[in-house]
Amino acid sequence: MATGLGTVRNVAELRSLIAGWRGQGQSVGLVPTMGALHEGHFSLVRASLTNNDRTCVTLFINPKQFGEGEDLGTYPRDEAADTAALERLGADALFAPAAVEMYPEGSATSVSVPGLGDMLEGEFRPGFFTGVATVVTKLLIQALPDQAFFGEKDYQQLCVVRRLATDLNIPTEIIACPIVREDDGLALSSRNAYLSFDERRLAPSLHAALAAAAAQVVAGADPSDAAELAKRAILEAGFGKVDYIAIRDSDSLQPLVKLDGRARILGAAWIGKTRLIDNLSITG
Ligand code: PAJ
Repeated sequence: MATGLGTVRNVAELRSLIAGWRGQGQSVGLVPTMGALHEGHFSLVRASLTNNDRTCVTLFINPKQFGEGEDLGTYPRDEAADTAALERLGADALFAPAAVEMYPEGSATSVSVPGLGDMLEGEFRPGFFTGVATVVTKLLIQALPDQAFFGEKDYQQLCVVRRLATDLNIPTEIIACPIVREDDGLALSSRNAYLSFDERRLAPSLHAALAAAAAQVVAGADPSDAAELAKRAILEAGFGKVDYIAIRDSDSLQPLVKLDGRARILGAAWIGKTRLIDNLSITG
């Protein structure tokens, strides 16, 4: 189906491109990203290419999801490299709007998902999920894809997106893709580029501690004891601060009462100035 990657910058162009595909009876997959693309993103693009006739990737570093003092100004940007990589993969279109296209003067509406969006990441990054929910809602309404692809790397984001798509009757199937990791267990992330050589070496201990805690819970340990042990292991490995380690119901993200369904362990911790997040499924 590939005919070369076209880049579009505004919503009207995006809509007419997609209308053309629809007119030919083709299905459309959407892959929202903030760029600095790596194998984690590529896995989403490949999943979309496999399941849909056409794949549109979006690249927008959404200012609304960065808090004060966060890395909006320094977030890695390389549209030329991203474009070349997407061309190689066989994606059909890149939607890369300017901020003023997404948020023209006077725009005032935002989408928030209370509950799911306030806990865990939302507690440490106030406003983050309102920024994410607002931009994802806009992208879904702009493109109206058959499917949209999100990584389990950002597990809580995936839950928030599922909730808003259901609540707002957006006719797009939300597809979850597994976490792509380095050989040593570190989950791929655009922010890994911030790690120094020494920080990079200790970064996989976040995943290792989550995996150990997950195994303990499966073996019958109390979830809060296992979480506490994981937190200690991460600090002992050399992380500076742990924001949270939490074992939750995998759908509602509410605290786990007992391991009778699917559960998820989620964590966020700091190495120097870099904040890493990770999570794993716990299957009892
Ligand atoms: P970004 O961090 O660029 O991630 C884009 C998508 O790639 C997300 O769905 C994320 O979960 C997925 N992803 C990142 N690293 C991954 C990995 N190692 N394995 C699997 N998937 C991975 O998440 C965002 O952008 C933004 O919040 C966005 C949804 C685009 C809204 O602005």
